[in-house]
Amino acid sequence: MDIGVDLGTSNVLVYVKGRGVVINQPSVVAYEKNSKRIIAIGNKAKKMIGKTPESIEVVRPLVKGVVSDYTVTERMLKVFIRSAMEKRTGVGRPKICVCVPSGVTEVERRAVEDAVYRTGAKSVYVMEEPLAAAIGAAVDIEEAKGNMVVDIGGGTTDIAVISLGGAVESQSIKAAGDDYNASMIRYIRRKYNLLIGEQTAEKAKIAVGSVYERPEDITYVVKGRDLIKGLPKAITITANETIEAFADTTSHILTAIHGVLETAPPELVADISVNGIVLTGGGSLMYGMDKLIKEKTGIDTYVSDKALEAVALGAGMSVDIAARKEEA
Ligand SMILES: Nc1ncnc2c1ncn2[C@@H]1O[C@H](COP(=O)(O)OP(=O)(O)OP(=O)(O)O)[C@@H](O)[C@H]1O
Ligand SMILES: [Mg+2]
Repeated sequence: MDIGVDLGTSNVLVYVKGRGVVINQPSVVAYEKNSKRIIAIGNKAKKMIGKTPESIEVVRPLVKGVVSDYTVTERMLKVFIRSAMEKRTGVGRPKICVCVPSGVTEVERRAVEDAVYRTGAKSVYVMEEPLAAAIGAAVDIEEAKGNMVVDIGGGTTDIAVISLGGAVESQSIKAAGDDYNASMIRYIRRKYNLLIGEQTAEKAKIAVGSVYERPEDITYVVKGRDLIKGLPKAITITANETIEAFADTTSHILTAIHGVLETAPPELVADISVNGIVLTGGGSLMYGMDKLIKEKTGIDTYVSDKALEAVALGAGMSVDIAARKEEA
C-alpha cells in the first residue's frame, strides 16, 4: 500500500493509491490547557477557533510553512495517518511519501519522518512540495522541458521551475492564503470600523475575494463588532473592493513569480512560455488569480483541476519512484 501525505499549513490530506484522498482535514488541534488532553482535531477543532473558553486552546501547529509546535504536529499527523490506514483493504505496512512545508528545517524534516515511521510505516520518504504539486497536477516533470508550478497554500507560496524531474529554480515566500484573511480583517476594520474574526474573514474571502476585476460585481454580508459602539454590526462588502484590500499580498506573489522567471535559464523560460504556468493550492482558487498572472507575465496560466489535492496525489504517485531511487 502506497500513501501520500500533504502536511500543509492549512490542511492535511492523506491519499491512498487506488482509493483516492481519504483524509482532508484542517491542520487544527484543540486541547485542554491544563491536562494537554486533545479534545478535537481537524474540522471540529477549526470550528472552535475564536470561540473557546479560557480552559481550551485551539492551535494551528504549522504556521507560515514552519512547524511551530512539534509535539502537536506529531500527534495530529498520527491521528490522520492511522485513521487513513484503518480504512484500508490491503495488508502489510504501507510506504508513505510525505510533503512538508518548504520552510521546515532539516531537524523538523527528520522529526516529521520519525513521526510518520511511528505510525507503522514500512518506509518513509520526504518530498519537496512543488515537485509533488507538479506531479499531482499531471505535469510531465521528467521530460527535458521547463514547466512552472506556482503553489499558493495557506502559509506559503512556492514557485518552481521544473525540468528533468527536479526543481531548477525555486522560491518560497511567506505570502499566501492566510495573509489574504489577515488583509480582509485589516481592511474591514479600517474602512468600516468593524472587527471581524478569522473564520468570518476566510468565509468572506472564499465567497467574494478577488484579485482581478469581476465584470459583474457581487456582494457579501459580514458580521462582527462595531469598534465605536462596541455592539454587533453587519456590513456589505463587494467583490471588487477586496482587490484593493488584497493588493499587498498579491503584489508579493507577482514579484516572486517575476523573480523566478528572471533567474531561470532562458531555454526553460522559453518552454514555459509555450507550456504555460500551472497553479495549485487553495489560494489559486481566488477569483482572477490565473487571469492576473497571465496579464502580468504574458504567459498562459491555468488552475489545476486538482488544485487542493495535487500535493497529496503527487506524493502518493511518487512512492514507487522514491523507493527505486533509494534502492539504487
Ligand atoms: N475558493 C477559494 N478562494 C480563495 N482562497 C481559498 C479558496 N479555497 C481555499 N482557499 C484558501 O487556500 C488556503 C489553503 O490552501 P492549501 O490547502 O493549499 O494550503 P496548505 O497546503 O495547507 O498550506 P501550505 O502549502 O502553505 O503549507 C487557505 O488560506 C484557504 O483560505
Ligand atoms: Mg500546500
